[in-house]
Amino acid sequence: MKTIGVIFDLDGVIVDTAKYHFLAWKSLADNLGFEFTEAHNELLKGVSRVRSLEILLDIGNLELSEEKKQEYLISKNEHYLKYITQMGSEEILPGVISLLDNLDGLNIEYVLGSASKNAPLILKQVGLFDRFKGIVDGNSVSSAKPDPEVFLIGAQKLSLPPENCIVFEDAIAGVEAANRANMTSIGIGDAETLNEADYNYNNLTELPQNFFNMFLAEKV
Ligand code: G6P
Ligand code: MG
Repeated sequence: MKTIGVIFDLDGVIVDTAKYHFLAWKSLADNLGFEFTEAHNELLKGVSRVRSLEILLDIGNLELSEEKKQEYLISKNEHYLKYITQMGSEEILPGVISLLDNLDGLNIEYVLGSASKNAPLILKQVGLFDRFKGIVDGNSVSSAKPDPEVFLIGAQKLSLPPENCIVFEDAIAGVEAANRANMTSIGIGDAETLNEADYNYNNLTELPQNFFNMFLAEKV
């Protein structure tokens, strides 16, 4: 039997924090005097905080000093944390708990691979922190997705070669990172947007009950 492991992205897979990122970025754009829409927010999914600010400033056609950028990165995050600290287990997305139970039952270990520096806090807020074998977050990587670094560190935490790892991702950059890491990529969300993924599901409840058995059965 093959030993496999799973790496989960956080935002958009385990919880929907994109709506809180949107409110915090929108408020900054409002203060700076330009429009920031939900469609713009799509561009920030899976992207690091610093890169998100750069994209936002491009949208507003603004150039700012390094000092101002640092100031806005801090104030945006403070605003975002106001929402995050109100989160509870009711915000865990459908299908997550039964998927984790399924993995536990099959003795398949799983870690988190997220670009978010707030990932540990968010997992604690929703009561899932202790279930993961390891956490790789925005604090532990030097290159953001689509660079594969975050997932390669995840594979190390699982003590598995990358090709034995299965990644759940909702962002184009994340699917690309998983593919570049030579892992199996599962796109959660719109299949057209995530057409580079090896498998596509609209959400985790669509995953077939025996999904992992076919990987375990592979003789490698
Ligand atoms: C995730 C989200 C991104 C966010 C990034 C950094 O990847 O999908 O939208 O920009 O995390 O999050 P942070 O909590 O560190 O600001
Ligand atoms: Mg995501």
